[in-house]
Amino acid sequence: MIPLTLAEIAALTGGTLAPADAAGLVVTGPVVVDSRRATDGALFAALPGERADGHDYAPAAAAAGAAGVLASRPVPGVPAVVVPDVIVALGALARAVLARLPAAAVTGITGSSGKTSTKDLTAQVVEHLGPTIAPEGSFNNEIGLPLTVLRADASTRFLVLEMSARGMGHIAALCEIAPPRIGAVLNVGRAHAGEFGSLDAVAKAKGELPEALPADGVAVLNADDPRVLAMADRTAARVVTFGVRDTSAAVRAEGIRLDDLGRASFRLLMRDVAAPVTLRVHGAHHVSNALAAAAIAGELGMDTPAIAAALNAATARSKRRMELHERADGVLVVNDSYNANPDSARAAIEALRHLSQGGRRGFAVLGHMAELGDIADDSHAEIGRLAAQAGVAGLIVVGEQALPALMGARAETGWHGAAIAAPDALSAVAALDNLLRPGDVVLVKASKSAELWEVADRLLAEDAP
Ligand SMILES: Nc1ncnc2c1ncn2[C@@H]1O[C@H](COP(=O)(O)OP(=O)(O)OP(=O)(O)O)[C@@H](O)[C@H]1O
Ligand SMILES: [Mg+2]
Repeated sequence: MIPLTLAEIAALTGGTLAPADAAGLVVTGPVVVDSRRATDGALFAALPGERADGHDYAPAAAAAGAAGVLASRPVPGVPAVVVPDVIVALGALARAVLARLPAAAVTGITGSSGKTSTKDLTAQVVEHLGPTIAPEGSFNNEIGLPLTVLRADASTRFLVLEMSARGMGHIAALCEIAPPRIGAVLNVGRAHAGEFGSLDAVAKAKGELPEALPADGVAVLNADDPRVLAMADRTAARVVTFGVRDTSAAVRAEGIRLDDLGRASFRLLMRDVAAPVTLRVHGAHHVSNALAAAAIAGELGMDTPAIAAALNAATARSKRRMELHERADGVLVVNDSYNANPDSARAAIEALRHLSQGGRRGFAVLGHMAELGDIADDSHAEIGRLAAQAGVAGLIVVGEQALPALMGARAETGWHGAAIAAPDALSAVAALDNLLRPGDVVLVKASKSAELWEVADRLLAEDAP
């Protein structure tokens, strides 16, 4: 972060100092919302939480070296900038800091699935051009995005930001905090369908990113997704398309092949140059993400061979997304337990189908997909059906909400795999212990709230010597 006094922070956020003589204290960063992450010179933002009130942790942050707190009320004994709304103030601070960093080019990435994966690939490519700031994990909302922006300093050349929407206006608000010059939309899918109601509503919300771009900006759009491509009409920016299927896209992949662990190789085609790419991330769906990353890097000034070389070296930076682990007994565990929606579940089942070719038996452990509203039961049934069509040797469905997946699989004539309803993660592991043989492959997939990483963790712990 660029150094700022508490007086400057108060001026930038419309806050008041408490006590007034704290004006000259200097924040050098980081800005943190967890007091345990406070270090010398930090600014601790005291957020209202469901379980805890951040203000209670302000003294601990100060003891750890924080220069001050951003708070909604004075905190006895701790220098504070007091503002009406700490989250709004974080956004205002981020915007003001960014305005002082004109050399930092902002890229925003949105979509229903693959934002973090694409952000991680993009950052690892763009880093070759200069100092790059990208969020940790999935910091993509009105808190995580400003916290990420506030890590930037005078040396920062590129910010690669993840932007999420759970409702209308969310992305527009993020674009106000960090106005992007490049905006990429990956796909319009059924994540958060319960909140949005329809795919057209999702498209409307995601389209706020291209809408926010300036005339000298670039909208990077997925030509394979008609709702994304239609956003070309909603932007003043130049449009650059990418596509796996659309052969007229500006950035595309030719000759896609998957190795036996589901890693894609292809020829990256852009700007009349072809360069070979072999990804280290697993699943065919990452080809589309890699093309988005390539399109962004191309617009930031990188040539095609350099982009391909950087993609070849890029790894999965964020955890529990198509993580592959092979146990000593040869059982392959695919930990995709970070999150799930109907589209990412389809992609994961497709990857499982691929991984279970060549003699491996495939097993799917599926928990619920959250926030789907009216389409929840049908969506779970569809995923179960897909698993059956993929020929899994066993489907273990965890928790009541996911049960329709079992019905979906059973309705698939000709499927004779084991169908198991497990009340919780532990019973799922017990069932698997009876089923698994050396060389099998197990996919673990569910929404965050199902916490199915416990299944993957336990399956792998059984491997420990
Ligand atoms: N292009 C894609 N299409 C479908 N599924 C994808 C795609 N890219 C990634 N996924 C899968 O979606 C899941 C979430 O990936 P990722 O964390 O990259 O997405 P996200 O959009 O950042 O999610 P969130 O909204 O939770 O932040 C993972 O299981 C991943 O393998
Ligand atoms: Mg994410």
